[in-house]
Amino acid sequence: MASIDYEPKRLAILSISIFLSCIFVSSTGLVAALDDSALLASEGKALLERGWWSQYSNLTSHRCKYWPGIFCDQAGRITKISPPPEFLKVGNKFGKMNFSCFSNLVRLHLPNHELSGSIPPQISILPQLRYLNLSSNYLAGELPSSLGNLSRLVELDFSSNNFINYIPPELGNLKNLVTLNLSYNGFSGPIPSALCHLDNLTH
Ligand SMILES: *[C@@H]1O[C@H](CO)[C@@H](O)[C@H](O)[C@H]1NC(C)=O
Ligand SMILES: *[C@@H]1O[C@H](CO)[C@@H](O)[C@H](O)[C@H]1NC(C)=O
Ligand SMILES: *[C@@H]1O[C@H](CO)[C@@H](O)[C@H](O)[C@H]1NC(C)=O
Ligand SMILES: *[C@@H]1O[C@H](CO)[C@@H](O)[C@H](O)[C@H]1NC(C)=O
Ligand SMILES: *[C@@H]1O[C@H](CO)[C@@H](O)[C@H](O)[C@H]1NC(C)=O
Repeated sequence: MASIDYEPKRLAILSISIFLSCIFVSSTGLVAALDDSALLASEGKALLERGWWSQYSNLTSHRCKYWPGIFCDQAGRITKISPPPEFLKVGNKFGKMNFSCFSNLVRLHLPNHELSGSIPPQISILPQLRYLNLSSNYLAGELPSSLGNLSRLVELDFSSNNFINYIPPELGNLKNLVTLNLSYNGFSGPIPSALCHLDNLTH
């Protein structure tokens, strides 16, 4: 008798909890989706606000398809920023970029962009960055030691700029580095011995 009495209750409790967990799952899914699109739009917004693309287009929804030099993954996250210098030059807007918006950026390719000022230390918070090419610009000042935090970096080209003083020994932390070009700058002092321990370095 007792078991007949309890069974439907258990079933009811079970189905309520399944129902609730479905609501929970779908509502967190929705929140995640909203977060995602806000996040994605913020990548385009960051580029516009700093004026990198505003002469070209002001529609962040166009960023993956129509902005020259912007490449996205299937989810619409910006993975590569590589504008052809003949389309647009980033120039002195480089230092104003909010790098904390680009959590999926793999390649930042800005040679011949008339970049000026110094390297913003915040560049080192790009967690996925593997290729960084800022060669043939007017960048000056010292290299920030925080560059040593870009642990995924494979390629680093700062050649033909106006950097001065010491090469930070923290570059020796970049264990995945294959190419490092710091030539044609105004560095002084010895090459840090830490760089000798970069086993993958070929150039
Ligand atoms: C985008 O907006 C900026 C600032 O409002 C403006 O100067 C620029 O001309 C706009 N660009 C285009 C392509 O409409
Ligand atoms: C940079 O972007 C992050 C994340 O989108 C935001 O929280 C922060 O306020 C921005 N900082 C500036 C100075 O705009
Ligand atoms: C960086 O870009 C310049 C100009 O496109 C190119 O010549 C150079 O080979 C690039 N550096 C690396 C390490 O690929
Ligand atoms: C670099 O990493 C160190 C150690 O994790 C941390 O203390 C420092 O704040 C980081 N610097 C930047 C600019 O992210
Ligand atoms: C390093 O950069 C300079 C100037 O951009 C270039 O002439 C040289 O070939 C590069 N070195 C290597 C090993 O790629």
